[in-house]
Order: sequence, then structure tokens, then C-alpha cells
Amino acid sequence: MKTIKIGLLGLGNIGTGTYKTLEMNKAEIEKAAGTRVEITRILEKDINRDRGIAVPVDKFTSDPDEIFKDPEIDIVIELLGGIEPASTFMLSAMENGKHVVSANKAAIAANYDKLMETASRNNVIFRFEASVGGGIPILGTLTGPLCANKFEEVMGIVNGTTNYILTKMTVEGLDYDTVLKDAQAKGFAEADPTADVEGIDAANKLSILMALMFDKYVSPDSIPTTGITHITKESIEAARSKDCTIKLIAHARKLENGDIDYKVAPMEIANDHPLASINNEFNAVFVTGNAVGDVMFYGKGAGPLPTGSAVLGDVIEISKAILK
Ligand code: HSE
Repeated sequence: MKTIKIGLLGLGNIGTGTYKTLEMNKAEIEKAAGTRVEITRILEKDINRDRGIAVPVDKFTSDPDEIFKDPEIDIVIELLGGIEPASTFMLSAMENGKHVVSANKAAIAANYDKLMETASRNNVIFRFEASVGGGIPILGTLTGPLCANKFEEVMGIVNGTTNYILTKMTVEGLDYDTVLKDAQAKGFAEADPTADVEGIDAANKLSILMALMFDKYVSPDSIPTTGITHITKESIEAARSKDCTIKLIAHARKLENGDIDYKVAPMEIANDHPLASINNEFNAVFVTGNAVGDVMFYGKGAGPLPTGSAVLGDVIEISKAILK
């Protein structure tokens, strides 16, 4: 039986979660893939950190070419985060004939066209389910079971940090700064939360959703984006008095003339809308298709194991294609 060999770029939180998920569910993953699946090389400088997993030290390398040029490696999983060097590494992997899986929304949204073109030119598969909604199987569903639709609209709560902050402000009546500090202490918010609270992370995810749903790539820099830093207890109360809840929404809608209207902004969502009850760090994506009508996807949008679940789902799909 063939073994699908994987080169993993980055053994941080998400890389460790992916490694753990593969160890924890190896039998299920290999049964679904129809083959053995093994992470054989890991690009990571910090080889001594205690991650709660036993990684043979000879898997580690600090030279990315030891992965890209290794003829045995079939799939490269990129979990470095950040636009560079992640984008260049993904392109190099593709140019060397490797299939690529990534969870890196910033790199994918910044370089979407180049990554898709390079994958296509090199006849390799590029999958990035974990980049939007973490463990929620949204991208594969939009491009798979739902692809018979013309999509009309998407409204997504796609950032867990801001949803956690807004939920605490709404439910506990706390102010923004107090909740942000609490979220950082609990590890829900990054030490530098700018990309989350300014809506940049949600704009990256909306860029990817629009590319797949409307076949229209819009650079995240061109998406009108407002974060949540100006939301006060008073804004929350004003929304409550209208029977609404404030949520940070990544929104895109097809207009009658075919144009697409898009933005990321805090919005007052009527309390009888399903998105109003999505709380804490959970994500949800509400999609309208012209045949299916309204559908909503809900789950954990971040975290090592949910993200590892989505990354390995992509690995399984690619493994099945390799074996065909
Ligand atoms: N910082 C992101 C969030 C992580 O809070 O949702 C997942 O993309």
C-alpha cells in the first residue's frame, strides 16, 4: 500500500493540533484516504518546545528545500501563518509538484489568483478548508454539494475573538477594554489583537468566500472594513432596545445588476435571525443560494483540533485524488 507522505511547514499551535489529530484519528483518516498517511518532515526551528506530542527529532528540518525537493513528499501542509514567507513557500511547493493544504487566510486572500494559477499550471491540488471557519466544513460544501446554486448572499460571523468580545459585552454588560483584557488572559485573543478587532481577519475570510461563491476575487485591502473597537455599552444597549444584537458580519450580496456589494462591519442583527444567537468564540456562516435557499454552518472557527480536523479533511481528499 502506498504511503502518502506529508511535509509540514510550522509546528506552532495549529501544526501541533494537526499532528495530534492525525495521531488521535489515524485509523479513521487512513480508512477514509484509502492509504497510509504520514507526516515525514517538519519545517520548524524550535525543536525542543514541549508540545505534548512525541515527534522524532529526525523529522525536523530548518531548510524548506528539504521538503520541496524531496521526491517522496506528496503533500505540503502550510501552517506558518502570515503572508510571507508562507506565500512564497506555497508557490515553491506547487512549482515542485507538491499538492498544498493551507489554513492561512491572510496569505491565501493576499495572493489568491497567483496561488490558484500556480496550482493549475503545475497540475497540483490546492485546498484551504481551514482558512475560513476553522473546523466548519464550509468551503468544500460551497464548491461541492452546493455548487449547483447561484449564490445570492453570505453573512458570516467568521472571527471568534470579536464574537467572544461582543458576546461578553452583550451578556455581561462589560465594556470593550475589560472584555479584551479578559479574552487575552484566557488565550482567546492574541497579545496583538489588531487583525481581529479591526476586522482584517474577517476581511481575509470574506475575500476567500467571495472568490469561491461569486467567482470574484477582491483583495482584502479593497473590502470596506470596520472593526469593533468603537463599540460601546451604549451601542449594545441601543441595539438591544430595537430587539437586535451587534455582531461583526462579513457580508457580500449579489445585486440585480450582477455587481457584488461587500463589507465587513458590526451590524445590528434582529434577535430572531439565526446569527444573533451565535455566541462566544463560535463562528457561523449564513448562505443563500437560488436553489437551496438559506443554509447556515455553525461550529468552532479556530483552535488546534478543529483546524486540524479541516486540514486533515483536505489531506484525505487529496490522497483520494492521488490514488485514482
Ligand atoms: N484569530 C482568529 C479568530 C483565528 O479569532 O477567529 C481563526 O482564524
